[in-house]
Amino acid sequence: MARAQAKVIVITGVTRGLGRALAERFKTLGHTILGCGRTREAIQQLRQALGKPHDFDIVDVAIDGSVRKWAARLLAEHGPPDLLINNAALINRNAPLWQVPAEEFDRVIDVNIKGVTNVIRHFVPAMVERQSGVIANLSSGWGRSTAAELAPYCATKWAIEGLTQALAQELPRGMAAVPLNPGIIDTDMLRSSFGDEAGSYASPAEWSERAVPFLLQLGPKDNGKPLSVPSR
Ligand SMILES: NC(=O)c1ccc[n+]([C@@H]2O[C@H](COP(=O)([O-])OP(=O)(O)OC[C@H]3O[C@@H](n4cnc5c(N)ncnc54)[C@H](OP(=O)(O)O)[C@@H]3O)[C@@H](O)[C@H]2O)c1
Repeated sequence: MARAQAKVIVITGVTRGLGRALAERFKTLGHTILGCGRTREAIQQLRQALGKPHDFDIVDVAIDGSVRKWAARLLAEHGPPDLLINNAALINRNAPLWQVPAEEFDRVIDVNIKGVTNVIRHFVPAMVERQSGVIANLSSGWGRSTAAELAPYCATKWAIEGLTQALAQELPRGMAAVPLNPGIIDTDMLRSSFGDEAGSYASPAEWSERAVPFLLQLGPKDNGKPLSVPSR
């Protein structure tokens, strides 16, 4: 691919699910993937499978200091990303809100809202300085509707919708921030809430065939729009 078309793409949560499928498909198109997750073995496996110039690191997005160090290293080595995908997230175990333990509620908030903000805090200033780039924050159907037994998760995805639209109002011309509903895909997260019924939905690899071209065409025209990956 011509150097001018090859994008530098940061993706959080690349060890499995949607993040992993995105990383693999972007790689086949010649883009450079800079990804993170917490699972050491999966990060090591990605390093071996995808090789350089791609870069995979063990980072918990909920820890601001870890994200700061990770971003500083990547920005020094690769410059500002063209596309920043805040994909990493957790879902609570299905339960009525009053039965969700405080620690579990805190963890969902810490990863799904504070983690996204940590990544924005440390990558976006370089993008703003260059006045280009797209920030896609993974939302959900449950960021625009609700479901019983998933109140903590719904709260975080509604937060992502509002946070992202406010961020869009702060960006300079030439940039975009969008909340992105990926659809319903058979991942570990979906299996947590849907059980075996998750198997009737698209695999992450199938989904990435639609998601990758959609992500690559995002630009300033989309700033602040709540978007969804096209369905089959
Ligand atoms: N699957 C769906 O149908 C669906 C529907 C709507 C929205 N979404 C959204 O799509 C995104 C991806 O979901 P998924 O279904 O692929 O979930 P998943 O299969 O559970 O994968 C989540 C990814 O996030 C990473 N992660 C979790 N906590 C992290 C942390 N603190 N720091 C860094 N990485 C972390 C996980 O890696 P480690 O465990 O290795 O850290 C994993 O790679 C999420 O934002 C989710 O809310 C999914």
